[in-house]
Amino acid sequence: MAKMWAGRTSGETSKIADDFNSSIRFDCKMYQQDIKGSIAHAMMLAKQNIITKEDAEILVDALAQILEDLNSGALEIDMEAEDIHMFVEQVLTTRVGDVGKKLHTARSRNDQVALDLRMYLRDECDEIVELVTNLIKALCNQAEENKSVIMPGYTHLQRAQPVTFSHHMMAYAMMLLRDIDRLKDCRKRMNVSPIGCCALAGTTYDTDRYFEAQQLQFDSIALNSLDGVSDRDFCVEMLSSIAILMMHLSRFSEELILWSSWEFKFVELSDSFTTGSSIMPQKKNPEMAELVRGTTARVYGDLMATLTMLKGLPLAYNKDMQEDKESIFDACETVKMCLKVFAPMIDTMSVRADNMKKAASEGFINATDLADYLVKKGLPFRSAYKISGSIVAYCIENKTILEELPLEKYKEYSELFENDVYDEIDLTTCVNKRVSVGGTSVESVEMQLKFVKENI
Ligand code: ARG
Repeated sequence: MAKMWAGRTSGETSKIADDFNSSIRFDCKMYQQDIKGSIAHAMMLAKQNIITKEDAEILVDALAQILEDLNSGALEIDMEAEDIHMFVEQVLTTRVGDVGKKLHTARSRNDQVALDLRMYLRDECDEIVELVTNLIKALCNQAEENKSVIMPGYTHLQRAQPVTFSHHMMAYAMMLLRDIDRLKDCRKRMNVSPIGCCALAGTTYDTDRYFEAQQLQFDSIALNSLDGVSDRDFCVEMLSSIAILMMHLSRFSEELILWSSWEFKFVELSDSFTTGSSIMPQKKNPEMAELVRGTTARVYGDLMATLTMLKGLPLAYNKDMQEDKESIFDACETVKMCLKVFAPMIDTMSVRADNMKKAASEGFINATDLADYLVKKGLPFRSAYKISGSIVAYCIENKTILEELPLEKYKEYSELFENDVYDEIDLTTCVNKRVSVGGTSVESVEMQLKFVKENI
């Protein structure tokens, strides 16, 4: 079929070229934004007397009808169309005749696609923020319910110092709060209207870009038309924010996978968020968490693909830019799916406080507190550190733990040891002494909970 842009060429492209050129299979997602943008455009054209009020009315009514028909399913998107913009214009012209051909005055598909994409993605930002908020709420619930549960904190995946499980949960809540902040921040720069930049150089018509932007709830307009049609920073920024968010979810997934292993048994994921094995009857696999970790790779790919696609492009629009959509859409779909699974998976996870406590009791994770005890009695930290290290070595050799070592033995290492040492190295004391701001004590976690709740 001859294209709407047939003129300079016959518009009779080969079928294989049409298929290659077409973006309708993925940009059909933006039909609502495309139509809303066109309605605002028709209204602006009439306000500026570029078309008559009567024509604008016909266009607006017909566009609203197309939107309704697509929403209800009465009208189906033609997958043979070149893209969503051409499809809507084609239907419009079929329905209202020549008036339909006036809609594309003072605009180009270059500013139109940039407009649609910004409108689509700002809604996606809002949706992702809401899903992250739900996950933060699930983390807060787990933290509240397990406020004083003690687990080993790790560095180098070696038991290091005791921490509260709630503190560990709040660490992820803090990361996710920053993710929300990043998404909201990139939404601000995204919410700038490119419509009216036209093909690349603006237009000779007396348009009102501010009016059109306002109709479509934009905060401001792009002030350089070349930039307006060429800029895909908003995609890159959003992809970066999503990639960082996925990185957080992936690290968390890795911990959940470890924690639900027989070796750790710190948590049990609910049956609704685990899978069985087709051959090994005993298996309960954390596959949701594994998929989050796995799909993170693809989202990184989406970011890299977009950055690479853009790096060599001269101004202004180049068809390469059609590639922006599949990457960003994939990242949005993926992160939304991950978040939708993650929040209930955390909500329904049971915490095995007994196993955490057992692991915390076995790794000499109170050795720092033993050294601190001596420091409080007057020894310099380095000397105290050395004595504690020797005591730990003795315990390992004699298969005992610090809590069970008799006072006489302690005194062999330093006369400063008294009976109160046992209280100092008790894991609960160790945790609750860490009252420094941001520390692991219950008191500190309560402050963190308050902060997080106030900021979501
Ligand atoms: N489908 C195109 C895209 O997604 C729309 C813009 C086409 N513009 C053009 N000059 N061919 O980028």
